[in-house]
Amino acid sequence: MGVLDGKVAIVTGAGRGIGREIALYFAREGAAVVVNDLGGAVDGSGSGDVAEDVVQEIRAGGGTAVSNSASVATAEGGRSIFETAMENFGALDILVNNAGILRDKTIFKLEESDWDEVMAVHLRGHFCCTKPFAVYIRETGRQDCRIINFSSVSGLFGNFGQSNYGAAKAGIAGFSRVLALELKKYACTVNTISPGAATRMTIPLMEARGRPQAADAPERSPAQVAPVVTWLASPAASDITGQIFHVSQGRVGIMQQPAVVRSFEKSGAFFTLEELDQVMPTLAEAKRARDLEVRELAKPEKLSV
Ligand SMILES: NC(=O)c1ccc[n+]([C@@H]2O[C@H](COP(=O)([O-])OP(=O)(O)OC[C@H]3O[C@@H](n4cnc5c(N)ncnc54)[C@H](O)[C@@H]3O)[C@@H](O)[C@H]2O)c1
Repeated sequence: MGVLDGKVAIVTGAGRGIGREIALYFAREGAAVVVNDLGGAVDGSGSGDVAEDVVQEIRAGGGTAVSNSASVATAEGGRSIFETAMENFGALDILVNNAGILRDKTIFKLEESDWDEVMAVHLRGHFCCTKPFAVYIRETGRQDCRIINFSSVSGLFGNFGQSNYGAAKAGIAGFSRVLALELKKYACTVNTISPGAATRMTIPLMEARGRPQAADAPERSPAQVAPVVTWLASPAASDITGQIFHVSQGRVGIMQQPAVVRSFEKSGAFFTLEELDQVMPTLAEAKRARDLEVRELAKPEKLSV
């Protein structure tokens, strides 16, 4: 008995890294999995057969899976991934939008193509894969579906040299908040993951910063993300939607979402510049105090098992 018995799932970018671990975990928990991956290089160039390799691994372990090598970055690709689920399994319950690439450069060197490609795979890719699923949910009235999207500290906190990727990943958080509202009526939850793991995407970055990564160390392994995503995909998570979970360093945490932390009002008139000389530093101070409070709250607690 698995927590995903009878469910059909798509995991994009599941040929390597975090997505591969999710596909393997889903299959072990009983889901029939569409393993999507274009199989290209980390910058999005080229293609390869990595999706089929993961399918063979799942089948060898007694699981059910089919591969799809379309790009998530086009509507045609998104449609093909959705149709692969329909043609092979006749239904769809879970979509994990995990595929991603990097083209890191500071704004001084960033070319239009670096911006467009990263936006296309991440932000547009989330849209292209989600749209057919959302329409299917509405047209068939299928209940209790799950969408799990992939953001990043780059978009949620900011990271030097990643304005294209950070903008796309912040956009994904916004996309997810809206989807959670739009799909609530169908009991479909939409949550977002902010992962941290040693994969081909992060190992070179961390090495360049003098912090070598071991993908097999439990606190850096991409495998740590899979149980959290599986739990969110399972019936246990039916009441959790519109949230961002940070999974990194062997920890799982819930993120604060944008919120007003202090405000002033003035009836019948706009603030003058002189009044803002007082109000704005007070607001900035309130934010600093709130950040400190949240930093305390976020300190990891040991789970006794
Ligand atoms: N590893 C981390 O610490 C980290 C941190 C923040 C966010 N993320 C996000 O997590 C997700 C997984 O990243 P990862 O670290 O496992 O990277 P990865 O490079 O190991 O895996 C990403 C996979 O996506 C596939 N892919 C790329 N473009 C595609 C396309 N157009 N269509 C289909 N597949 C495509 C790649 O071929 C690759 O196998 C990404 O969205 C990434 O941005 C990762």
